[in-house]
Amino acid sequence: SICHSSRRALQTLSTSPRVPDFAFAFDIDGVLVRSSDPLPRAHKTLSYLQSQCIPFILLTNGGGKHESERVEELSNKLEVLLDTTMFVQSHTPFADMDEYKEKTVLVMGGDQDNCRRVAEKYGFQTVVTPGDILTAHPEIWPFSSQFLPVYAPFSRPLPQSINPTDPAQSLRIDAVFVYNDPRDWGLDITILKDLLLSRAGIFGTLSPKNNDPKLPNHGYQQDGQPPVFFSNPDLVWAAKYHLPRLGQGGFREAFEGVWAALTGGSRAGVEFQKTVIGKPFRQTYEFAEKRLVAHRKDLFGGQDAGALRKVYMVGDNPESDIRGGNSYESPLGTDWASILVRTGVHVEGQTPAWKPNKEVGDVWDAVKWAVEDSK
Ligand code: G3P
Ligand code: MG
Repeated sequence: SICHSSRRALQTLSTSPRVPDFAFAFDIDGVLVRSSDPLPRAHKTLSYLQSQCIPFILLTNGGGKHESERVEELSNKLEVLLDTTMFVQSHTPFADMDEYKEKTVLVMGGDQDNCRRVAEKYGFQTVVTPGDILTAHPEIWPFSSQFLPVYAPFSRPLPQSINPTDPAQSLRIDAVFVYNDPRDWGLDITILKDLLLSRAGIFGTLSPKNNDPKLPNHGYQQDGQPPVFFSNPDLVWAAKYHLPRLGQGGFREAFEGVWAALTGGSRAGVEFQKTVIGKPFRQTYEFAEKRLVAHRKDLFGGQDAGALRKVYMVGDNPESDIRGGNSYESPLGTDWASILVRTGVHVEGQTPAWKPNKEVGDVWDAVKWAVEDSK
């Protein structure tokens, strides 16, 4: 890379350029772009860092397309050359969940069947979408029949994952992954609750254990129903509209409201059992840090680039970016600092629920402050 060769060149001049021992993790929505529009000084910021060979990664709770596709889009939009070694999306960690690759999984969220194709690129062999289920059984959620023409071009016949006596009960789902924001909350909530009330994830059945006060969790999710993985906790995010919009966390909260109403919820001692990844959770920050360390090493020709002393997490959402940056304890001993910008969810005059190390106007201010702070 240019950073490696330029350092080698400098070394011949007997100067000993040090590889920067600090780096950046940039949130995307509300920091670099607002939906499809780049923010004013995003290009200047990333270009500057690349000219100085200061490493950075993009770390987003967004997703819905394969990393290679999204990186190409962002490179064009921001007019900066990015690649997948410096890019972590909400669902990127799902690519490592090999134990489900040969199972039948339900993937929710995103436009058309983009997320099915992402899952297949990750190596998942049998991927079902809510559109497939509605197309095969329109009666499960009659209010979405008007959308059948939207689903038709992307739906596929349901896999025969088991051979029951009743063919209508041939689909068993082994795990549910929410890759991105569902577009049809009514359909997706209906399908998720049908699966979680089912016997062993077999679509169209009911578990006899449901609502049994003698069983743990009142008998709910105690009969081999599929685990549920959410990729992004964001209740709100910064889209093009000037006020924050509901995110995947909004969908999950809507589901949890329906689930509590159906099961009695916490009053009956029933908890919705799920896994949520994404910022601010440790798993995502640890995954991102590994990606950043590897990318930094690549940047300097695979040489040992020395310890990464500090990472500046630049974000717009106190709940995901600042809370995560503040609380992450790096196993490498790297110090993470958080910088909050006012170009997204958080705006001037608000008091953030999670106090950043520094609050600034935009991403350029963040980098200028951090470069000084790193000295
Ligand atoms: O769906 C995207 C949204 O939840 C937030 O994305 O880039 O601000 O983490 P980002
Ligand atoms: Mg954001």
